[in-house]
Amino acid sequence: MTIDLHEANRLSWNAATIAHNSHKGDQAAFFRSGGTTLFPEELDLLGDIAGKELLHLQCNAGQDSLSLAQRGARVTGVDISDEAIDFAKRLSADALIPAQFERADLFTWFEQARQQHRTFDRVFASYGTICWLSDIDTWARGIASVLKPGGQFSFIEFHPFALVFDEEWKPRYGYFKDGPIIESGVGDYVAQSGDTLAVDTYHTGTENFTNPHPSYEFSWGIGEVVSALVRAGLTLDRLVEYPYMNGWRAFEPMRELDGDRLAPPETMPSLPLMYGIAAHK
Ligand SMILES: C[S@@+](CC[C@H](N)C(=O)[O-])C[C@H]1O[C@@H](n2cnc3c(N)ncnc32)[C@H](O)[C@@H]1O
Repeated sequence: MTIDLHEANRLSWNAATIAHNSHKGDQAAFFRSGGTTLFPEELDLLGDIAGKELLHLQCNAGQDSLSLAQRGARVTGVDISDEAIDFAKRLSADALIPAQFERADLFTWFEQARQQHRTFDRVFASYGTICWLSDIDTWARGIASVLKPGGQFSFIEFHPFALVFDEEWKPRYGYFKDGPIIESGVGDYVAQSGDTLAVDTYHTGTENFTNPHPSYEFSWGIGEVVSALVRAGLTLDRLVEYPYMNGWRAFEPMRELDGDRLAPPETMPSLPLMYGIAAHK
């Protein structure tokens, strides 16, 4: 049942990934000239990754994976979307940055990796990942099972409290939810965000994108996420909350800060919009 919902999301992500990449211009040239899509917050959580075997969960079209590889990690990216993984493989070849990309549902991939005794020094996931996963304990146990002893998990995510608001900052969704939230499909949040999410400069690309495939999202509160990681045997080193969002113009209006960060307008109180976790096995 839940894997069926993951499969439905795969179709929705395939369609959206094409639209997203249409706005991102010549990405291979961007990476060949030393460009990076990583923000300081994830670099801070990750620390030094040179020479590390790094697993990138839900890597989408590989832009962050290649940015991680440029910092010296040996990167394996996993994602359910065929379009995303095909694009990532082409981008890796065209940008001349080696990385491995594998297409799979994350839960199936964890199971196979466990059977094959695959392990990593680092596991990383960022921005818009766990809302697509139907079980937070399976996620946390999967991470713990592929980390070497002493290996580190670094995670940055949009804050579940921010997601109680609709696009106009009106409280609309409960923080505590059960079961999947049915949406009309993965949207074109790159078009919605413009320059702050474009890889280099924003290109018009696909206009007025509507996704023909619905999507199913899951809400995981901070307590559920941290508890799942601890239950899986990880030790929490840091839990950080941030009063801004990196790249994603999720609401209107938003105030643009330096470094492609977006915050509520001055007239609103500060709110937690992202959080980060560093943990180890
Ligand atoms: C918002 S994107 C994450 C982007 C990421 N921050 C990056 O490096 O570009 C979410 C990704 O999760 C993937 N995804 C959704 N459900 C999944 C699943 N069950 N297994 C693996 N990947 C999944 C989607 O295909 C999509 O690429």
